[in-house]
Amino acid sequence: MLVFDERMKLSWDEFHSLSLQQRAESFRMEGKVYHTIFSQQFSRHDLEQLSRLATKIRRIAKSKAGMAFLQSLLPHKRAMLYFQQPSTRTFLSFHAACPILGMKSSEVREARTSSEIKGETPEDSVRTFSSFFDVIIMRHPEAGFAEKIAWLLSNTERPVPVINAGSGKDQHPTQALLDVYTLFRSFEDRMGIDGKSLAFCGDLKRGRTVRSLAQLLTNFEDIEMYFVAPPELQIESDITDILDERGVKWQKADKLEDVVPLIDAVYMTRLQDEWDDKGESRNIDFADFNFSKKLLKQLKPSAVIMHPLPRRNEIPDEIDNDPRAVYWRQVRNGMWIRAALFATIFRRDDVISDYYETNNG
Ligand code: NCD
Repeated sequence: MLVFDERMKLSWDEFHSLSLQQRAESFRMEGKVYHTIFSQQFSRHDLEQLSRLATKIRRIAKSKAGMAFLQSLLPHKRAMLYFQQPSTRTFLSFHAACPILGMKSSEVREARTSSEIKGETPEDSVRTFSSFFDVIIMRHPEAGFAEKIAWLLSNTERPVPVINAGSGKDQHPTQALLDVYTLFRSFEDRMGIDGKSLAFCGDLKRGRTVRSLAQLLTNFEDIEMYFVAPPELQIESDITDILDERGVKWQKADKLEDVVPLIDAVYMTRLQDEWDDKGESRNIDFADFNFSKKLLKQLKPSAVIMHPLPRRNEIPDEIDNDPRAVYWRQVRNGMWIRAALFATIFRRDDVISDYYETNNG
């Protein structure tokens, strides 16, 4: 039986007042990830392990026998996908990752169809899910809600792991995992992620994917980051303070064209106007924060163009066929890294590695 960290037994207020490091440690069990709440809980070692595992799963799944082996690993586990905000890719990639390992999944996507409409609290809803399911994957508009649920469920008689699939403007840790996996794959023949320069462009103030990824990348050496955004939507000091603490070089920029020749990866994002109070971002000219075809010429031949998607006009479709455009690959990587996360949470990572050594290695 897996044993929780003693700190999980504290009251919510006491738990929440612990340092991020201490909370992150409590989300692990016997050395491996259990709850997935924020990106800072992943070490470089975790990222390398998960990425390697994702690649093994991807390769094993190519054969019929390999797929049959993977599907035999977790047929007794059921996942609840509880999505209280719109989602296409994150939802579908979790949904597609489950059956790779033989898991079943169910979904609640709208409070309208659940008892929340009768006045049930979201906390009680999620506690109900924990009676029927073995992992809860949740997207919620409130920052910190997934963490509270992880703490709550850890204090019930049927604790189950919680995976944050997007919490408010704050965090989207599994997107950051797939982004790092994509970077690992892109820079496989170029000494990996260390020493690379990345530009983040778009709505950096309210984009949770950028916030999670920028923090996750502090695990690597000699990274340089450029933040390209309209002044109103620039990255804020809560993130840049963390970068300073971890010794990451960063700077803000007003124009993509100034940084494009210098970088190894550009991470484009859309305007997050669903967070506007009164449509204030309507007056922002976002045109300068789109990756035009003209910029392709200035981009290094070995660089990559990323986007968490959905996109609006940030990247025209005609760029999709450029070999440097990896955003559709990111989508597929999302499925493999999420399968790797399930396998790690449910301790099937070693069996997969053994199978891989014997059959594919
Ligand atoms: C992102 C999200 O939901 O934060 N999408 C995703 O999960 N791939 C990005 C966005 O909505 O802009």
